[in-house]
Amino acid sequence: MVIAVSSDHAGYDLKQKVIAHLKSKGIEVIEEGATTGDSPFSYVEAGCALAEDVTSGKADKGIAICGTGIGISIVVNKYKGIRCGLCNNEYTARMVRQHNNGNVLAMGARVVGQAVALAMVDAFLTEEFAGERHAERVNDIIKLEDKFYK
Ligand code: RB5
Repeated sequence: MVIAVSSDHAGYDLKQKVIAHLKSKGIEVIEEGATTGDSPFSYVEAGCALAEDVTSGKADKGIAICGTGIGISIVVNKYKGIRCGLCNNEYTARMVRQHNNGNVLAMGARVVGQAVALAMVDAFLTEEFAGERHAERVNDIIKLEDKFYK
C-alpha cells in the first residue's frame, strides 16, 4: 500500500507526524506539499499534487491536511475519481471508507489533535467499503462525474 500525504504550511507539522506514523507501520509514503511550516504554501498546490498521485495510481489513497481541512478537501474533490471526506473524528474517518468508498481523508491541523488525527488515519486505512446499498450511491456519484467531467 502506498499513501500520498500532502499539506500546506498550516498542516506541515501534523503531516510529519502522520508520515512518521505510517512509516512506523511499514507503509510506503509519498510526501507532497509544504516542505516547512514557516512559509506560506497554497493548499491548492498541495491538493493538486495529492490528487494527481491518487488518480494516476501512484498512490492507493491520500491524506490531505491544511489548517481546517476545508480548502484542501475542496481542491481534491475537483478531480474525477477522488472521493474525499473532511473528517473530524475516528467515526467519520471510518464512515468515509465504509459508506462512501473514499480514497482521500482530509483533516484540519488546527481542528484535531495529534492523537485523534492518528486514530483517524488508522480507521481510514483499515476500514473496508461496505458495498451493497452504498455501492449504488457511489455508482451514482461516478455517473455524475461522467455527466459533468468531459
Ligand atoms: C492557511 O492559513 C489556511 O487558510 C488553510 O490552511 C486552510 O485552513 C484553508 O482552508
